[in-house]
Amino acid sequence: MKLSENTIFVTGGGSGIGRGPAESFYQLGNKVIISGRRRDVLEQTVKANPGMEFVVLDVSDSDSIRDVAAKVVQEYPDLNVLINNAGIMRAEDLKKWPGGLEDSEAVITTNLLGPIRLTAALLPQLQKQPESAIINVSSGLGFVPLPVTPTYSATKAALHSYTVSLRVQLAGTPVEVIEIIPPAVATDLTPGRSADNPRMMSLQDYIKETMELLHLKPTPAEVCVERVKFLRFAEATGNYDKALQQLSTVML
Ligand SMILES: NC(=O)c1ccc[n+]([C@@H]2O[C@H](COP(=O)([O-])OP(=O)(O)OC[C@H]3O[C@@H](n4cnc5c(N)ncnc54)[C@H](OP(=O)(O)O)[C@@H]3O)[C@@H](O)[C@H]2O)c1
Repeated sequence: MKLSENTIFVTGGGSGIGRGPAESFYQLGNKVIISGRRRDVLEQTVKANPGMEFVVLDVSDSDSIRDVAAKVVQEYPDLNVLINNAGIMRAEDLKKWPGGLEDSEAVITTNLLGPIRLTAALLPQLQKQPESAIINVSSGLGFVPLPVTPTYSATKAALHSYTVSLRVQLAGTPVEVIEIIPPAVATDLTPGRSADNPRMMSLQDYIKETMELLHLKPTPAEVCVERVKFLRFAEATGNYDKALQQLSTVML
């Protein structure tokens, strides 16, 4: 994908792994529109990046997606990049079910239905552009699950699979499909657990390495920083059982 002169819509662009690329792309000369549920967080981000714009969006709400997609297409007719980044993670104790079922459903609605619905809503617009891209943010946990977050890990495995199919279906169209596969990164996804946690990559280092990879020509179909390769290629390298064993000891 080209790295400047795009009009980019980022879900969850007010914090963490969404805000980093939103700011980097903004600095590279792109029009960037960020979205999320918390207006104050979006306002702060836009204030720090004058010219960036925001729209309040709840990706777990199909009406919100429909309304926002229509508004964005109308206000930004040049929109050509969608970054499906918004996500939530919840610990679940499956032995206590059905107690945690609401959490499981919320994770699926946000992390899987959200990107699918938004892609459906914006794909007609993206297909009209001469050059466009959909960037889906999955996770290393889509390749080896973190057993304490079973539904989260399952949504990321499903998002990976959906992204592969989307890429195949859109081959030969102007829409490039890219998957960003982060490792554990210190963000608010797991509040209180990030500070000084050696298991987690610093957000700054992660964004720097990710943007370097996005500068490669051609853009990699899967953007994998070094730290995530152990999980991404666990099965291929015969390390799946070892990785699963390690992740099985992690508590949230
Ligand atoms: N941090 C990691 O270790 C890690 C690893 C692999 C993958 N990821 C993925 O990276 C993505 C970003 O996570 P993060 O680590 O940057 O955590 P984060 O700082 O908590 O960011 C999550 C973002 O998603 C937005 N969001 C959550 N639910 C939403 C909803 N219903 N509608 C719209 N926006 C919503 C949040 O904004 P509002 O709360 O304002 O809505 C927030 O800006 C997620 O998809 C996550 O699964 C993270």
